[in-house]
Amino acid sequence: MNALLTDIKSLDYPIYSLKRASLLEESLFIKGIDKIYSYGKTEVGSDKAIGKGVTSIIFLGSYKNKKVTIKIERPDSKRKGSIKKEALYLIEANKYGVGPKIYANDERFIIMEYIGGPLLIDGNFDNKDIYDILRQCNSLDLSRIDHRQIQGGKHIICGKRNVIIDFEKAHYSNTPKNVTSFLSMCFLSDCLVRERVKELFTFDEEYIKTLLKEYKSNYNIESLIDNI
Ligand SMILES: Nc1ncnc2c1ncn2[C@@H]1O[C@H](COP(=O)(O)OP(=O)(O)OP(=O)(O)O)[C@@H](O)[C@H]1O
Ligand SMILES: [Mg+2]
Repeated sequence: MNALLTDIKSLDYPIYSLKRASLLEESLFIKGIDKIYSYGKTEVGSDKAIGKGVTSIIFLGSYKNKKVTIKIERPDSKRKGSIKKEALYLIEANKYGVGPKIYANDERFIIMEYIGGPLLIDGNFDNKDIYDILRQCNSLDLSRIDHRQIQGGKHIICGKRNVIIDFEKAHYSNTPKNVTSFLSMCFLSDCLVRERVKELFTFDEEYIKTLLKEYKSNYNIESLIDNI
């Protein structure tokens, strides 16, 4: 059983305004959150959070008997409105079976499915995970959503399911590069993900570049996967 948040002001990290935190708590409860937990690796005052970035703070909560992630825009964020924008892209991505399921949102927060598991960059993945993520990237390409942070391996959780997270930098594009970014990270860039990929696949870099060119001309993911 997880401990509950001890200080509601933690919701307003890093300013800790009681007034703002109380309003936020009320809105979360109205949307259906019934518990907010002190859980995760990130210390927030006397509490814990799942994660934090420059624009948001992320808590574990409970919503209709489900574990959920509550992503809250930080009051000191320099990119005001990023949560609202992220929610729009996440709703769209969900239509294609991509991203954590979004349950509710407003301008300050998103309530979404909690995805357990390590990040791609931690290296706990195998060949079929790579194929699965490639197909998800292709779904995003076909929907014209460019995630824009696929490279780096910090925005894909590889748990029971592989799930692409954090759509705050997403935008619409006629030339989306999700598959290109993912494949380049896996096979061409000098990074930790590629170190693991080298253990799983035998490949020639020039050939991967040829496959990418071909993919750009037809967006055919199955033919790309067949040839890796
Ligand atoms: N739906 C989710 N389920 C489980 N954990 C999540 C979920 N969303 C985010 N996290 C955790 O919280 C961390 C931060 O999430 P996210 O990348 O969305 O935040 P951010 O504020 O945009 O961060 P950054 O500034 O680094 O981009 C993730 O690395 C992950 O560990
Ligand atoms: Mg982010």
